[in-house]
Amino acid sequence: MKSRAAEKVGIQIFDYTFPEGVEEEELLGRIAALNADDQVHGVLVQLPLPAGLDERRILDAISIEKDVDGLSAHNLGCLAQPDGCATAVPCTPAGCMELLRRSGVSLAGKECLVLGRSRIVGVPMAMLLLRADATVTVCHSRSLDVPAKCARADVVVAAIGRAGFVKGEWLKDGCVVIDVGINRVEDSSAKRGYRLVGDVDFASASVKASQITPVPGGVGPMTVTMLLRNTVELARRTAS
Ligand code: GUN
Repeated sequence: MKSRAAEKVGIQIFDYTFPEGVEEEELLGRIAALNADDQVHGVLVQLPLPAGLDERRILDAISIEKDVDGLSAHNLGCLAQPDGCATAVPCTPAGCMELLRRSGVSLAGKECLVLGRSRIVGVPMAMLLLRADATVTVCHSRSLDVPAKCARADVVVAAIGRAGFVKGEWLKDGCVVIDVGINRVEDSSAKRGYRLVGDVDFASASVKASQITPVPGGVGPMTVTMLLRNTVELARRTAS
């Protein structure tokens, strides 16, 4: 989907697929070559990586000027700065912020709950909400009494990868729900034998929430769009 969307807007894609047993040095060599290639403005390493590869080392090998996914230690660290200094902000959290902004959801002083603490969504999402003056709680696999935390939240961002984990009964009336989860559940009546569902039980949550994103079709397309935006932004910066 990323490749198709990029081509549609005139961004050229160079796609490299590696076998599961690829050596870390080979990946690092490819990244170094892309870093040095003037034709390339953005480099993205699609995650998750196979076990045994050092994700942090690989993401940090991308030059900051081309870190289109914003997942390097430098760019993630920039999110902790009050003025922000990232060359690019991670695409999924950036997409969630854009959804909130365009839906007119005010965040200052609001109780925002982020479910999940991943490098790719949970942690940067929490930082972006903090920078928008929200009061932020982050829950994860070791958190206690998640339903009680949901009950307080004006905004819930679910990114834990567990199908239908958040139940409507847990939510505050009128809250806003952003569902980042994309989980496959078996469904013999579906064309592929499975269907995609989010981390939120949509049927019960949509009764309580004032606004809620669907899965599929909610956050996913925003992630792709933010990737295109980041690419154009990095290319413009190189040109100027
Ligand atoms: N895997 C699933 N979503 C993403 C994303 O936004 N960026 C990267 N790098 N990998 C992913």
